[in-house]
Amino acid sequence: MTRKIRILDTTLRDGEQAPGASMGLEGKLVIARELLRLGVDAIEAGFPMSSPGDFESVRSVGELVGDACMVMALTRALESDIDAAADALSTAQIPCIHTGLGVSESHLRNKLHMSREDCLARVEASVSYARSKCDLVQFYAEDAARADKEFLARVCETAIKAGATAVNIPDTTGYSLPQDFAERIRYLRTHVEGIDDVVLSVHCHNDLGMATALSLAGVAAGAMQVECTINGLGERAGNTAMEEVVMAIALHGEELDAHTDIDTREFVRASRLVQSITGMKVQANKAIVGANAFAHSSGIHQDGVLKERETYEIIDPETVGAGSGRLVLTARSGHAALRNRLEELGYSFDRDTIDEIYERFLAVADRKRAVYDEEIESIVNEYERQSAAVYTLEALQVSTGFPLTPTVTLTLSDDEGSRHTVATVGDGPINAAYDAVNQIVGLENDLTEYVVQAVTRGTDAIGEVTVRIAADDRVFVGHGADPDIVVSSVRAYLNALNRALIARRSTEYAN
Ligand code: KIV
Ligand code: ZN
Repeated sequence: MTRKIRILDTTLRDGEQAPGASMGLEGKLVIARELLRLGVDAIEAGFPMSSPGDFESVRSVGELVGDACMVMALTRALESDIDAAADALSTAQIPCIHTGLGVSESHLRNKLHMSREDCLARVEASVSYARSKCDLVQFYAEDAARADKEFLARVCETAIKAGATAVNIPDTTGYSLPQDFAERIRYLRTHVEGIDDVVLSVHCHNDLGMATALSLAGVAAGAMQVECTINGLGERAGNTAMEEVVMAIALHGEELDAHTDIDTREFVRASRLVQSITGMKVQANKAIVGANAFAHSSGIHQDGVLKERETYEIIDPETVGAGSGRLVLTARSGHAALRNRLEELGYSFDRDTIDEIYERFLAVADRKRAVYDEEIESIVNEYERQSAAVYTLEALQVSTGFPLTPTVTLTLSDDEGSRHTVATVGDGPINAAYDAVNQIVGLENDLTEYVVQAVTRGTDAIGEVTVRIAADDRVFVGHGADPDIVVSSVRAYLNALNRALIARRSTEYAN
């Protein structure tokens, strides 16, 4: 049997640090559910001291996850941060505090203004304080890949003696070459007393496009845990992509003496979900989950694959969930069929919720020959978005064409039960509809991005729109899905405005 490599997902923490990738609480819970389907060993759910939103995210993920996996919260090496993490983790059944500080010369000198001795004292104090609050404590040595090796070993040993149950070695800036990173992990394994009694973790960034290679080098050198995100989401060039590192381990398990417990068939779905919630799309040639990852267009390649798939394909697309978009339901499918399919897709809803989702499903199915899994997921996501809305779309009438002036009549309801109707004209139907929304909602903002994408193939596919707005000095992402793209566009814009309004309300409440 090969070594089990633990997979720690940090999409909700390090992934969300990507500029403009904010997910909102409801988005984070949808992703957390998907992480459970993937079977990750740990979810890093946020940095509780950084904002009330992150605090709530750790609490809610802890509640959701139960004993299915470990839930982690990030802290700086400060008692106030550790207290906040311990409070936020009180809902988790397997909580872990992830504390640490910068250990390279550059971090000590320029950021922390600390001597090496002060740093060691801080490691000892923070880890033992965290251990007094939580049985599981992972220590991170930020910028470990650029730190002096001997000092790094002293830091790790101090953390272990103070009670750390796991030690995380990040290449925070994605600077290393894989062979140097591997050598560093080997060095720590031979120079740090007690290192084999704790979980040795690697956490790599992709600044030179090598995050996956670095993580695998770490595994080959003896690391037992990889920290990663879906789609490699994260600051700058991102983190290690879970789908890449797990598939590499799956294909090279014997050489690496390694396996993971991840259900790889969930990868494409997880990828789509994270793209849809964050609005951060992956490129078509992204390994494992890109639209072209299994597409063969050259004649020679097509011929080879038709004769024998393995000629040009190292992975069977089905093993990562890149099947051909299975046909599932039609307008004649009943309530039970939808419930059954939702359960197979991993959703469990109460009866009233299924009734409401069924109504939406029928509205889509009446307009299409067949409804695919991706579209069912899109309907569920749209339902979840609208359940937490301040303004909801009630009616939209659009008249457009050439050479007509686009005209829109739009009705929104608000969460106090009032209905608002306005009529507008515009340069195009979307412009007229957005103007109508602005007249009702009245929230000053800049629309900085608007993207429309079909969820499946075919002209009758659901169109998913993602927008980004800047309001109140923040960026808010919104999504909307419907077979009619003017409706999707209004829903996406409303979703972003609703998020901005909810954020404004919670700031007003906090003040
Ligand atoms: O990249 C990094 O060093 C981190 C730590 C906070 C774990 O994200
Ligand atoms: Zn990081």
